[in-house]
Amino acid sequence: MYSPKVMQNFSNPQNVGEIPDADGVGTVGNPVCGDLMTIYIKVKDDRLEDVKFKTFGCGAAIATSSMITQMAKGKTIEEALKITRNDVASELEGLPPQKMHCSNLAADALKAAIDDYRKRLPDRTGPAEKK
Ligand code: FES
Repeated sequence: MYSPKVMQNFSNPQNVGEIPDADGVGTVGNPVCGDLMTIYIKVKDDRLEDVKFKTFGCGAAIATSSMITQMAKGKTIEEALKITRNDVASELEGLPPQKMHCSNLAADALKAAIDDYRKRLPDRTGPAEKK
């Protein structure tokens, strides 16, 4: 039912953990199942230098988090904001239809982390302020 790429990201997820001095943190819950995901980003020169995640969720949520962190790393903020749940799903070579909602978590948590990063900035080009 799952593609080999999903299984690979589920059994060996990449970028798991926290970034203690993250520039942005985004947590979203999935209303369908109650699962939770947090994404941490570290930004340098408008690029996502590091992206990590913590997920309390199903296998598909773990696989999509792992995949989105790999896709987002090294991208500019603008590019990262364009990653959709469909991009994540196709990068994973597809998700079963009943699991598509799980990929919302990853895309939404990344956007929430970027929103948080932007809120912390005095202006778009200045250094991130610690709160
Ligand atoms: Fe909750 Fe997949 S069932 S995120």
